[in-house]
Amino acid sequence: MRLLVLTLVLAAAQAQVAEHANSGYKTKEGRSRVAQSLAASDRDGRQKPQELVDALQLAPGMTVADIGAGIGYMLPYFSKAVGPTGKVIAEDIFPDFLEQARETATKQGLSNVEFILGTEQDPKLAENSIDVAFTLDAYHHFNYPDKMLAAVARALKPGGRLVIVDFYKSGFRDPDHIRLDRDDVIREVERFGWRLLSKRDHLPGTQYIAIFEKR
Ligand SMILES: C[S@@+](CC[C@H](N)C(=O)[O-])C[C@H]1O[C@@H](n2cnc3c(N)ncnc32)[C@H](O)[C@@H]1O
Repeated sequence: MRLLVLTLVLAAAQAQVAEHANSGYKTKEGRSRVAQSLAASDRDGRQKPQELVDALQLAPGMTVADIGAGIGYMLPYFSKAVGPTGKVIAEDIFPDFLEQARETATKQGLSNVEFILGTEQDPKLAENSIDVAFTLDAYHHFNYPDKMLAAVARALKPGGRLVIVDFYKSGFRDPDHIRLDRDDVIREVERFGWRLLSKRDHLPGTQYIAIFEKR
């Protein structure tokens, strides 16, 4: 009985780990505010999306999954990089974000993008189907990082890569919003069955890129 209680307590501790980061996402109004900031007209200058695409080394014909794609900020860049023979999968857990992503894709005529409504524990990607799993400013929102990473591992083709771009905790305006700093993220991801291939600054002092392969 005691063991059962301990197991349940540990399971509860593992779940909902990103409670603080996700507090603003609980209502439609909250998500609408987030959407505005994700679509801000000055974001490109700060986020440098083309440099991210270059870091991913995408090639025509590849399949890239944007996990936690939000309103689809990266879709035009990915769509162009993988070309008409490739595929971009935009996955998120909120239908209202995905709807905006779909509108953007339609307006811009991005014909190689598919949309998936995932859950907090499962991005619902087909097994052995993607070359690159990408997540921008989203890992720190995952309430069940172990389950998400296991699902991504199943979805990656042999030789596929997981690319995590996220904020340094120390460089963020509200450090509590970011659950773990870069090296702790790397340790966590490695603990869940991955090997680090490279890590570097994307926006010095603000954002990093860490690239992993399955072990
Ligand atoms: C800060 S936003 C970043 C959105 C987008 N990547 C961008 O940079 O514009 C974080 C996103 O992660 C999504 N998210 C949170 N938990 C998730 C999960 N378990 N699986 C997939 N997406 C998740 C949220 O819905 C939100 O769209």
